[in-house]
Amino acid sequence: MLNEILSSLRNEIKFGYLKRKHPFRYFSLGSSINQKINQRTVVLRNLSEDDEIYIYTDYRSQKIKEFSANKNASALFYHPKKLLQIHMQGKIQIITSGKEYEKEWQKVQGNSKKDFVTELPPGEPINNPDEVKYKEEQHHFCLLKLQIQQIEYLQLKRPNHIRARYTKNEKNEWEGEFLNP
Ligand SMILES: Cc1cc2nc3c(=O)[nH]c(=O)nc-3n(C[C@H](O)[C@H](O)[C@H](O)COP(=O)(O)O)c2cc1C
Repeated sequence: MLNEILSSLRNEIKFGYLKRKHPFRYFSLGSSINQKINQRTVVLRNLSEDDEIYIYTDYRSQKIKEFSANKNASALFYHPKKLLQIHMQGKIQIITSGKEYEKEWQKVQGNSKKDFVTELPPGEPINNPDEVKYKEEQHHFCLLKLQIQQIEYLQLKRPNHIRARYTKNEKNEWEGEFLNP
């Protein structure tokens, strides 16, 4: 049963980027710096065969400073209809060049490109939301990969809730166990 839950969990995560309206399309990405916790909503872009979650961001954003200082990250997904929560923990890799980086940047189309070409860095004060300036010739696209090391699955249901934890062992295989919910 642990294996079945793991494979259904992987499928559910994949639906997050394959199905437009799936609740896992957006998730909370957590970071920690100087004993403080930070969270933000991001778009799920991919789940690789090597259990990496892909995220796009602006290289100048605060999260890059935080992940440069501390690679530890968490990802929290919630499916309201299924009362299903998935909590992942792992390490972030910041990618700003190379073949894969270029491939992912090519996938960013049309208006979405604007998110990565603002003149000012994200989080800089401006007078008015209509005054955002863009500099098309220079983008600040950055690919983040969250290498998942631990997954916790919790589904609320009657008569028994199901809670399970999966951890990667030295052979890079998932080891699962049920937990008291
Ligand atoms: C629905 C939604 C989706 C978002 N998706 C992303 C995303 O994929 N990448 C990203 O960098 N920021 C995304 N954001 C903005 C972040 O939540 C956050 O405000 C921004 O990245 C700055 O975070 P930071 O200061 O911690 O770096 C999204 C926000 C919302 C509301």
